Amino acid sequence: MSSLVDSRLGVGVIGKGNVGRELLALLPPQLNLVAAINTRSSLDAPGLLDALASLPRAVLVDCTAASGHEALYTAALRRGVHVVTANKKPFVAPLQARAALLEAARSAQLRYETTVGAGLPVIEPLKDLVRTGDEVRLIEGCFSGTLGFLASELSKGTPLSRAVTTAKELGYTEPDPKEDLAGFDVARKALILAREVGLELELGDVEVEPFVSLDAPLEALDETTAERVRSQAAQGRVLRYLARVDVLAKRLSVGPRWVDLSHPAAQLRGTESLVTYTTRRYADYPMRIQGPGAGAQVTAAGVLADVLAVARGSSPPLTLSGARSAESKGVARRLHEPASTPAFGFRSA
Ligand SMILES: NC(=O)c1ccc[n+]([C@@H]2O[C@H](COP(=O)([O-])OP(=O)(O)OC[C@H]3O[C@@H](n4cnc5c(N)ncnc54)[C@H](OP(=O)(O)O)[C@@H]3O)[C@@H](O)[C@H]2O)c1
Repeated sequence: MSSLVDSRLGVGVIGKGNVGRELLALLPPQLNLVAAINTRSSLDAPGLLDALASLPRAVLVDCTAASGHEALYTAALRRGVHVVTANKKPFVAPLQARAALLEAARSAQLRYETTVGAGLPVIEPLKDLVRTGDEVRLIEGCFSGTLGFLASELSKGTPLSRAVTTAKELGYTEPDPKEDLAGFDVARKALILAREVGLELELGDVEVEPFVSLDAPLEALDETTAERVRSQAAQGRVLRYLARVDVLAKRLSVGPRWVDLSHPAAQLRGTESLVTYTTRRYADYPMRIQGPGAGAQVTAAGVLADVLAVARGSSPPLTLSGARSAESKGVARRLHEPASTPAFGFRSA
């Protein structure tokens, strides 16, 4: 006879859109799906949390782009409910709220690998560099699979407005594509990575240039954008949206650049993203992570991987003696060695 108490990990999902739907289709029967809610559900997020907190082991999964969920996560973690999320916004909340979140994460697991690079392993490798005492000096790349897709489409001659419509239909964009086009989504990712290495910066500290101007309807930009793409292509250059976290200078910038075909970012296709870490150990040849960085399937699989890590019950990793954790305040201050050559020239691009 089976036990009356369900010993499986309880899972509560907020968000049943592109990512949430895929995740629900992937959840294995070894997990106990308690409820999946959206904005129209009778159960709200605090109600879902109450249900999860009554179980011996449970995880709250956030597949929304809602603002203000840092307070929900903090409450969940304090009640021993693990949190897995694809939502970037709680991690770019003011530093005080983030500190409360990380403090609460001593009580339960908080995993957010898919907030940067979707299904690609980007955050855990960075945490590992910090945990093992490396010094991260520079983080660069194309952090948006969505803007990568748009840039690829423009190179193929697709009009800008149609490329954006297609990206939305394919589930690549943020719920509001203007978040991508304005550069806000990449700015959030840059800040998430910067904070992982100890930079105590706010979203307003990121220098953001939009992918395209949002002053006019996109259709009005189709012709001029296509013309610029053609003339730059004739000179051997392609458009890429680059991000740069200069850890030593404590400077974050994101913006569109025309890059030569020899540039590492020029080789990216479709939704491919690229993140490079230049560190004391990876100084001559930076660590590179590359692959599709947008899409509901890869993102949902990444969320599931985080849920499975929670189910395995891995405890918070130990840090090397003397090395500080990613959450520590002092990592950036310890960086005293000169910056090495950038993985690729953002400024000169
Ligand atoms: N798509 C990707 O390639 C990708 C990649 C990496 C990360 N992400 C992240 O994944 C998250 C979800 O993206 P998506 O493409 O799945 O978005 P989406 O299709 O717009 O789905 C969002 C879902 O969240 C629900 N929702 C929003 N606010 C809510 C609230 N306060 N309470 C309950 N439900 C709420 C919506 O409810 P309704 O159905 O009622 O509207 C909807 O079901 C975002 O944070 C995004 O940045 C996405």
